[in-house]
Amino acid sequence: MNIGVVGATGAVGREMLIELEESSIGPMKPKLRAFASKRSAGQMLEFLGESIQCEEFSLQNLEGVEYVLMSAGGGFSRKNSMDIANLGIQVIDNSSAWRLEKGVPLVVPEVNEAALEERGPGGAIIANPNCSTIQMVVAVKPLKDAFGLKSINVSTYQSVSGSGQKGLNELASQVRKSFNSQPLEPEFYDQPIAFNVLPAIDRTDDEGHCFEEEKMIRETRKIFGLPELEVLATTVRVPVFHCHCESVTVELAEEVSLEDVLRAFCDAQGVNINKENDHKSFPTPLTVVGKKEVYVTRVRLPLDQKKSNRVQFWIVADNLKKGAATNAVQILESLIRNKAEL
Ligand code: A2P
Repeated sequence: MNIGVVGATGAVGREMLIELEESSIGPMKPKLRAFASKRSAGQMLEFLGESIQCEEFSLQNLEGVEYVLMSAGGGFSRKNSMDIANLGIQVIDNSSAWRLEKGVPLVVPEVNEAALEERGPGGAIIANPNCSTIQMVVAVKPLKDAFGLKSINVSTYQSVSGSGQKGLNELASQVRKSFNSQPLEPEFYDQPIAFNVLPAIDRTDDEGHCFEEEKMIRETRKIFGLPELEVLATTVRVPVFHCHCESVTVELAEEVSLEDVLRAFCDAQGVNINKENDHKSFPTPLTVVGKKEVYVTRVRLPLDQKKSNRVQFWIVADNLKKGAATNAVQILESLIRNKAEL
């Protein structure tokens, strides 16, 4: 098996190498090629205990590669993914470029693995959803399946690693400057991110929705196959290095008790449910970093109600893991498993 990781030097690309090692693909000892921009060519990366040299990306350099895992930004993907797929290579793209395109499966394996079958013949593009969308649909799916879903209302608290290496660098440098009483001049974000909260992520449209919110709304509808689903989203950047948190309220088709909901979460794939109201055991970004599951906690019904069709909960997941690299590698595992079963 011959796998290329494009964007291998980036925040998600590096995680993809680790996830490949730790997945069922690692023991198959795939041949791995790492690609990035010209400035990273020659950089050494580790894979399965061996050093591999990063290559400059070009279509010619992809000879022999069967699968490409890509996380090099939307512009790069729009320019190159179709050409890569036309070489007969299967592309799994982490950018937003193709997610809403007809014929491009948008897949979270625990939720809609069957959508993989909708891809085109030969090499094709499969899209990895947005990090905030992934963790939300994993948590909402068991409730949707058991009780029916009418709407979702979500507010996110997103870490800077969701912006890639530049976001991580900006927070680290501003924290240092802050302790040295130096001015926090923003370079990557529009305002200082250290000790601050930014109420919109990505550009904002004329009606006041930011692009990150649009992604969550439209991607959730596509993944669940519910084009009319009401999703209300507010996406916010917080000064945390890793892991996104989300406050979610779902409206269900039927009234449920707290026990019903907890039972559904307990049986769900990819969900780690914390039922304790013990403040010392709540999952937080610092405890969840590096983990592959979606952590659900603070599950509750509206105050003073024993049964309700509305449920509130809090979720936290590592956006570079389940929100990106883990999910991409799980898609690849599904493809390989399905191919073996044919
Ligand atoms: P490089 O490190 O050489 O710039 P992040 O999301 O953390 O910013 O990472 C983006 C990844 O995409 C990096 O590996 C980066 O490589 C890669 N990348 C960005 N632009 C290109 C390009 N034009 N060709 C190949 N790789 C690119």
